Amino acid sequence: MNVNLIGVPTNHGCDRNGAQYGPKKLREANIVNIMKKSELSIYDMGDIYVEDIREKDKFLSDKNIKYYNSIYNVNLNLAHMVYTSLNNKDFPIIIGGDHSIALGSISGASSYFKNLGVVWIDAHGDFNTEVISESKNSHGMPLAFLCGYGDERLVNLYRHKTKLHEENVFHIGGRDIDIEERKLLDNTKVSMYDKTKINKLGIEKIIHEIIEKCKKQNVDAIHISLDIDFMDKDIVKGTGTRVSDGYSIEDTKLILKELINSGLVKSMDFVEFNPILDENDETLNICTNLLEYTSNLIKKLK
Ligand code: ARG
Ligand code: MN
Ligand code: MN
Ligand code: MN
Repeated sequence: MNVNLIGVPTNHGCDRNGAQYGPKKLREANIVNIMKKSELSIYDMGDIYVEDIREKDKFLSDKNIKYYNSIYNVNLNLAHMVYTSLNNKDFPIIIGGDHSIALGSISGASSYFKNLGVVWIDAHGDFNTEVISESKNSHGMPLAFLCGYGDERLVNLYRHKTKLHEENVFHIGGRDIDIEERKLLDNTKVSMYDKTKINKLGIEKIIHEIIEKCKKQNVDAIHISLDIDFMDKDIVKGTGTRVSDGYSIEDTKLILKELINSGLVKSMDFVEFNPILDENDETLNICTNLLEYTSNLIKKLK
């Protein structure tokens, strides 16, 4: 199995300086060689091109979304890159960048597979549309676009069949969801595994339940979208929207392990690392550790 690392150096979805340096910082920390220790073939496919846009031009497109044209272009190119990687029977790992890039990666994956499942691991819902979003930052919107809500061009980004089946979408760790976003989510078939459910069932049972449902619903592949702010605010300092009452590195590893060992996971995002906000490379080290752990899990599959 070949893993394709795809960098997406953007902060246009979060409108905060730093997230665009995630891929560069991880490469400087030798992420490719660290992941190669698993004896997987890791190919660094480079970065998706992100335009340089002045802050004062962020609403230039006239849309209710900051940096709209950049968000559109980056995600469209990323979708095609992910599609191409999957078509080549490779395993794409998409390194952010902020979480707006999940629109492109998942659009690519859902165009390639017949019936994609998505596990979204995040303190936030990322289910705002441009109409209800308070911030107008698109990293709070990608899952809504992917399920068919909001800006039509983004909903139909790639090959016009990007829409996910809501019952195949599983959200874990949500604890900072906006009021209107919550109302929208409540009217969908997206499964929300929040604190109450996690405390009641435990992470392992939850993942088993997700995999069972995916099998029953004939899901042919699962995409993991991991926003590192799933972890507690005191654990990950190097991310832009930290939330308390979060989860540990071990919780995150348990999710990755149970999901990847199912053999269904075929692609993954790793997003929201912001090196500028990091302290003493603590978050950097968590990121390299999680990516190394992921490589070892993928390697063991065959
Ligand atoms: N709900 C807030 C917003 O829409 C925060 C979103 C944070 N998203 C993220 N991927 N970190 O602006
Ligand atoms: Mn997110
Ligand atoms: Mn988040
Ligand atoms: Mn198990």
